[in-house]
Amino acid sequence: MPTIVFASSKGGVGKTTSALALAFVFTQAGAATTLIDADPNAPLARWAARFPDSIPAGLTVTGAVGNAAARAIDDAALRDPFVIVDLEGTKNVEVSVGLGRADLALIPMQGSQLDADEAASVVKLIQTQEEVFRRTIPFRVFFTRTSPVIESKGMRDIHAQLRELGIPLLRTSIMEREAFKVPFRVGASFYDQTRSDVRNPRAAIENAEAFAAEVRDILMSEGEAGQGRVEANG
Ligand SMILES: Nc1ncnc2c1ncn2[C@@H]1O[C@H](COP(=O)(O)OP(=O)(O)O)[C@@H](O)[C@H]1O
Ligand SMILES: [Mg+2]
Repeated sequence: MPTIVFASSKGGVGKTTSALALAFVFTQAGAATTLIDADPNAPLARWAARFPDSIPAGLTVTGAVGNAAARAIDDAALRDPFVIVDLEGTKNVEVSVGLGRADLALIPMQGSQLDADEAASVVKLIQTQEEVFRRTIPFRVFFTRTSPVIESKGMRDIHAQLRELGIPLLRTSIMEREAFKVPFRVGASFYDQTRSDVRNPRAAIENAEAFAAEVRDILMSEGEAGQGRVEANG
């Protein structure tokens, strides 16, 4: 069903980590999910191959690059309640395919590094794809790797900047937490991590669940808006 695509104009901002966290929450809630690794570097396909016993029930991980990504997304969307696509942080054919099929594009940003140029280039990327595909691509920016401790003045400035640029922002940020990194080292999701893996997985779980709830709400309201557009046109 809905396809959620993680995209950004650069690498290392947290797409792959956040995509996997979202998949953990959906499958834990009982919703079958396909995670499509459309990054030619294949970080999620490698995770799945390395830790087959850690893949939660209901989660399918499919590596698909080039034009195969299109078929993989379409097949998964027919089958599963959620499809999550992880892209490389550069402009390539997979990014174009992924954004072309996105019901929601999620664009992570690290607050401390954000500047107006970065935000503008993300919006440009989306707008180019909207022209190519002649469709609206719903998108939201969200902050990753934020400090759980303080809301700094810097962050407030960035929020103001985004508002000025008219860039919609998720309320929920993904925090900088060890529990989000642990899956790539030991396999286990934050639901299965023990105290020897991480001191307090609970905070990461709550954070990821709040993120997933917000994403689900947006998908529902975008779905209704899309339905309205279809009815108005027909
Ligand atoms: N929420 C997070 N908490 C802690 N570390 C994170 C978090 N998100 C990403 N990282 C770390 O940041 C680096 C880049 O993350 P990654 O998800 O691979 O980014 P991208 O897919 O955008 O290139 C990795 O070393 C990853 O472990
Ligand atoms: Mg990545």
